[in-house]
Amino acid sequence: MERIDKIISNQSNYSRSDVKKLVKSKKVKVNGEIVKNSDFKIDINKDIITVNEIDLIVKQKVYLVLNKPKGYISATEDRKMATVLDIVSKDYGNRNLFPVGRLDKDTTGLMILTDDGDFAHSILSPKKDSKKIYDVTIDIPVTEEMAQGFKNGVQLIDSRCKPSILKITGEYTAEVTLTEGKYHQIKRMFGCYKAKVLELKRIQIGDFKLPSNLGEGEYRELTTDELKKVQGIKGVINE
Ligand code: URA
Repeated sequence: MERIDKIISNQSNYSRSDVKKLVKSKKVKVNGEIVKNSDFKIDINKDIITVNEIDLIVKQKVYLVLNKPKGYISATEDRKMATVLDIVSKDYGNRNLFPVGRLDKDTTGLMILTDDGDFAHSILSPKKDSKKIYDVTIDIPVTEEMAQGFKNGVQLIDSRCKPSILKITGEYTAEVTLTEGKYHQIKRMFGCYKAKVLELKRIQIGDFKLPSNLGEGEYRELTTDELKKVQGIKGVINE
């Protein structure tokens, strides 16, 4: 059972004080009955909430895929810099969304935002070995030596990386698959070969590929099948 003002503000663009006013002006109903107090408790699995004569569709959890543009940090709020939450706030401002894992400010591509902590944990947990694939452009030619080093596990100053896959896709470009997420990992791995990362884009998490029709800065909700792919759960048809 949860307070009706909390549910409505989480599930809509109304603030808690908007909901108070709506309740006062008898605009909120539960199962057809006018609600008298904004602390009224309801069961979201059973009760039907109506606001201004429109039924509220209650979504338990939200899962978004965002094609992250450059210039946004992977945080929920920041006093100076724009965050990935700023991009989705006009539609989901009242939900406690957060990014699942981090991408650097200048990294683009696939980012998942959710308010489901268990789901985020299931992807980020080191035990899961969930794979993340990146398209990388560097400032010097990509070499077989780098590919071999990535396969063996690159030794960084503070720790050794797990084995990863570096597929050479062009003179200066590669596709890198990681199963962990150390701080600035790809930049530091290439740094070991005196290479500077010029462009970095995440293109896949688990079995889920960044949708090709999702432009930079665009986002949408994930389907149930896509969610399973993100988690790498077998039994769904992979493209
Ligand atoms: N590795 C990096 O160096 N940066 C990212 O944003 C992701 C992986």
